[in-house]
Amino acid sequence: MAFDVGRVRAAYPALADGYAYLDGAAGTQLPEPVIDATAEAYRAGLGNSGGAFPASRRSDAITAECRQAVADLVGGQPEGVILGPNMTTLTYRLAGTLAAGWGPGDEVVVTRLDHDANVRPWVQAATRAGATVRWADVRLPEGDLQTAQLAELISERTRLVAVTAASNVIGTRPDVAAITALARAAGALSYVDGVHATPHGPVDVRELGADFYVTSSYKWSGPHLGAVIADPGLLDSLAPDKLAPAPSSVPERFERGTLPFADLAGMTAAVEHLAALADPVQGEGAEGTGRRVGGGGRRERILASMAAAEAHEQELFRVLLGGLDAMTHVTTYGKAERRTATAYFNVAGRTPLQVAGHLAERRINVWDGDNYAWELTGVLGIRDSGAAVRAGLVHYNDRSDVDRLLSAVHELGAGS
Ligand SMILES: Cc1ncc(COP(=O)(O)O)c(C=O)c1O
Repeated sequence: MAFDVGRVRAAYPALADGYAYLDGAAGTQLPEPVIDATAEAYRAGLGNSGGAFPASRRSDAITAECRQAVADLVGGQPEGVILGPNMTTLTYRLAGTLAAGWGPGDEVVVTRLDHDANVRPWVQAATRAGATVRWADVRLPEGDLQTAQLAELISERTRLVAVTAASNVIGTRPDVAAITALARAAGALSYVDGVHATPHGPVDVRELGADFYVTSSYKWSGPHLGAVIADPGLLDSLAPDKLAPAPSSVPERFERGTLPFADLAGMTAAVEHLAALADPVQGEGAEGTGRRVGGGGRRERILASMAAAEAHEQELFRVLLGGLDAMTHVTTYGKAERRTATAYFNVAGRTPLQVAGHLAERRINVWDGDNYAWELTGVLGIRDSGAAVRAGLVHYNDRSDVDRLLSAVHELGAGS
């Protein structure tokens, strides 16, 4: 395996500031090629889309390349990639569109494991339509969903099942393929939140059976943008609200107003960056360029790179979780068999905010709070007490980040 975390880190200018960036689950840093791609797009000159002059054609080319890159990242088709500002906005947009066909007697299934952005838009749309909401529970202490319960909730009345591919706080990866299969068998659509899952391993939307898969590039080293990936034929059957002169083609009819073209160039560069994470390196040393040389197509390189990144993260996560669980003053949440490298914990006698403040003083970035895992933190009984501290690993984290976190959390137990 060619995964070399030192080399990966060197691509990220922000990581040179001496902080341990364990806040990646809330947004990652950007590597130099992504920053450059965005700046280069502006330097070259951009126009609005659909014009007869080169600057406009450049913008259109950037958009087409970005759709292809996102499709390669998750195994979709470029004609089925809707680009937009972020997951929440896109999900509200899709919820409004899908709910136009719902009414009394219809049902929507959501889970208490999900980030609220894959819960509330569906609950609100269903309520407006007079449809019924069914809730999938989280089993404790595992912190997982039970497919058997979903099998009971999903019926011929179900119109949509919204489920996460990974919890953004405790990292649980539910059996999405089994859940989407239940939805399909009942004639319902599935909407899979891939925002937290996408940066942590290979994704194949067909294997997941997701009718809609949504991801945000700022979680995987790209700009603050989101994308929904769906079958173009399915998109063609839907009629989102749109302006009269705006394109009626798919996926353009789902995209409102002008796209941020320079950021789309950055999004493509982020996919390229992920694809290259485990490429072999040619010409190491004084004479070599140290340049990564990818063999095979981009999709194959992405699958190999993301598998290598996942192995790297999981190895560090064993140390992180083992270290936290060994401290008697620490409580960790979630014990699912399959989970991303995301730790969620509390420290006895301190609020999550106090812990995050203590860590910030030691130059360690973590998040405190519910992190919008609104239902889950309610189930865990910690929502009203400031929820917990989240320390998440991504591909650019290394052993020193983990060691620094463990030693700083250890200090909080002194004398207790
Ligand atoms: C699992 C998950 N879903 C949805 C969202 C919302 O994403 P966005 O900020 O792109 O709207 C987040 C953001 O943290 C997330 O982690």
